Amino acid sequence: MPTAYDLIRPAIFCLDPERAHRLSVAALKAMPRRAAPKADAALAITVAGVDFPNPLGIAAGFDKDAEVPDALLALGFGFAEVGTITPLPQPGNPRPRLFRLAEDRAVINRFGFNSQGGEAAARRLAARAGRGGIVGVNIGANKEAVDRIADYVTMARLMAPHASYLTLNISSPNTPGLRALQDVGALHELLDRVGAAVAGAVPVFLKVAPDLQPEDVDAIARAAIDRRLGALMVSNTTIGRPPLRSAHAAETGGLSGEPLRALALTRLRDFRKATGGEIPLVGIGGIASADHAWDSIRAGASLVQLYSAMVYEGPGIARRIVRGLEEKVRAAGLGSIAEAVGSE
Ligand code: FNR
Repeated sequence: MPTAYDLIRPAIFCLDPERAHRLSVAALKAMPRRAAPKADAALAITVAGVDFPNPLGIAAGFDKDAEVPDALLALGFGFAEVGTITPLPQPGNPRPRLFRLAEDRAVINRFGFNSQGGEAAARRLAARAGRGGIVGVNIGANKEAVDRIADYVTMARLMAPHASYLTLNISSPNTPGLRALQDVGALHELLDRVGAAVAGAVPVFLKVAPDLQPEDVDAIARAAIDRRLGALMVSNTTIGRPPLRSAHAAETGGLSGEPLRALALTRLRDFRKATGGEIPLVGIGGIASADHAWDSIRAGASLVQLYSAMVYEGPGIARRIVRGLEEKVRAAGLGSIAEAVGSE
C-alpha cells in the first residue's frame, strides 16, 4: 500500500535536495511536541551502560545542529544522533553538495561539516535537559584546525553533560585528512586525550569508514578494546563507487544508501570477528527495512542506524522497521533482541 510519503515524494524530489532537507527539518521543528511511541520491551537493549528503548537510530547528518532530536524520537527512533558538530561555526563546502541518486536509492554528499558550532548546539541540548530520550552527539574537527585532536577534546568536554553518548567521527570523506585519524598512532592519541577529558562521564563511540583494509580493522579493533570504547560504529559513507545508474554517480563525496549496504555489512562482520564480540557494534549503511536491520543485528550489531532510506521512504520508516523487528523477535522465539546479536 502506498504511504502518504509515496504520494508527496515526487513533489519533494522536484526541490533541490538541500532545500528539501532544510524543509523537512523545519517541518519537524513545527510539529507539536509528542512523546516517543513505546516499542515492545523485547526490543530494549543496553549498550555501554545506556538503555536504548529500541535498537534503531537516526544516523548523524540529518540533524547536524541538534535542532530536532525530540521530533526524531517521536517518529519512533530509539535514539537520535545529532551532528557532526565542530567547535567553531563553519559553512562547509560550496553548493551543490548533496545529490539524490534516485535510480540507485542512494545519496552522495560532500557537506564538509557545515555546522553552527559547539556553543549553539550545547545551548539547544541544555534546553531539552530532563526530557529523556537517548540523544548521542557526534563531534568533529574544524577544517582549519591546527590541532585536530584538540578540537575533539574541546567538543567532548562541551558536549559530555548533554549527551547520552559521544561519537568521534573520524571517517567523513569530506574534510581533507580527517580519516588519517584512523591510523593507529593518531587514533591512540585521540582516544587517550578524549578519554582523559571525559573521564568516564559518558560513553565514547568511534565511527569508522567502510573503506578500510583488513590491517586497519584489526588495529582499530585492538585500540577499541584497549581503550574500552563504548561502541564502534560501522560505517560512515564510502568514497568507493560500486556500479551506479544515476547521472550523479561521478560526484565527489561520500556515497550512502542501498549501494553501501553490502560493503557496510561486510565491514561489520570484519569488526565482529576482530573484536570477538568484546566491543558493541552499531551497524549503519543502506538499512531500509526490518530485514536489513535484522541482517545487521545477526551479523553482530547491537544497534543500527539509517539516514538515506528516510529520503526515499519518508519519516514513517522508523515505526515500520521497529514493528518489523518486534515481529522478528517474536517469530524467532526470543525473549529479547539482545539474543539475536551476532547470532548468524
Ligand atoms: C551523512 N553522514 C554523516 N555521518 C557523520 O558521522 N556525520 C555527518 O555529519 C554526516 N553527514 C551526512 C550527511 C548526509 C546528507 C548523509 C546522507 C550522510 C553519514 C551517515 O550518518 C551514515 O553513516 C551513512 O549515510 C550510511 O547510512 P545510510 O545513509 O546508508 O543509512
